[in-house]
Amino acid sequence: MDDLTIQIKKLLVEKDAVLLAHNYQVSEVQLIADHLGDSLELSRLAADVKNSVIVFAGVKFMAETAKILSPEKKVLLPRLDAGCPMADMLTADELRYLKEQHPKAKVVTYVNSGADIKAESDACCTSSNAAKIVANIDTDEIIFVPDRNLGSYVQSIVPDKKIILFEGYCYVHNRIKKDEIIEMKKLYPNAKIIVHPEVRSEIIELADEVLSTSGILRYASASPAGEFIVATEEGLLDRMRRENPGKKFYPALRPKVCQNMKRTTLKDIYLSLVHDRYEIEIDEEISKKALRSLNEMLKYV
Ligand code: 13P
Ligand code: SF4
Repeated sequence: MDDLTIQIKKLLVEKDAVLLAHNYQVSEVQLIADHLGDSLELSRLAADVKNSVIVFAGVKFMAETAKILSPEKKVLLPRLDAGCPMADMLTADELRYLKEQHPKAKVVTYVNSGADIKAESDACCTSSNAAKIVANIDTDEIIFVPDRNLGSYVQSIVPDKKIILFEGYCYVHNRIKKDEIIEMKKLYPNAKIIVHPEVRSEIIELADEVLSTSGILRYASASPAGEFIVATEEGLLDRMRRENPGKKFYPALRPKVCQNMKRTTLKDIYLSLVHDRYEIEIDEEISKKALRSLNEMLKYV
């Protein structure tokens, strides 16, 4: 173990802190984390862990979600500039406008969104339970924000409901093109194609499975297949290779990188623990309202 890792481990114990990290984090951060997971797993952990401090190696909406679910805890985001561009695409005013346009609709919001958007919503969802939440919400008309790709995928699974989409998208997943997957399949004809639901519908059509980041990992580990084309951010492939050394994992031709997820380094985590930075704070009213929609999200696996 190097010196920085030893210092971080020591500080985590001294400060009664837990380090949660998303599957897209750089390998060094993944390796030192107490828990690694997708948005739903990390939200559940944030709600359940007993530590008084949560250090969140991920992006801002994830740390905010942790704070809303555990308001009594101190939640630290080591890099203030680790945001999610998709979460920033929709403003609360735009959502209120959509609600006025569709007064009978309920709002299902992807967790990749700001706290103020969650506060205006009926339920939140993640990539692993979006379809279940839409299927179970007690209305036939649903405003789904902000990801149009995830929303269209959900519409294909729940055709009986009318989904009103917003035009948000993830710059990493939306860049994956059909010809990249076709090219990879030519190179590796026996490989299973597993994709994240933030990809375009033309990629979903080519997929054997459409899953959240941890869902992709679980599927590949359990599958008898030995080769996989994985259309998502490359950090997940690092984890897949590490945990499945006998199997082969290929990106969508050129690896796709979320710069925001890659910002957090071990040094940032160390400094975060030393200086208690950057502490997440959320307006109490917004937090209380957002908690209701997050609790709806936690009802479904
Ligand atoms: P998961 O919840 O599937 O880990 O996805 C989070 C994310 O930001 C994907 O881009
Ligand atoms: Fe946001 Fe896309 Fe990065 Fe996920 S991969 S954090 S959706 S920008």
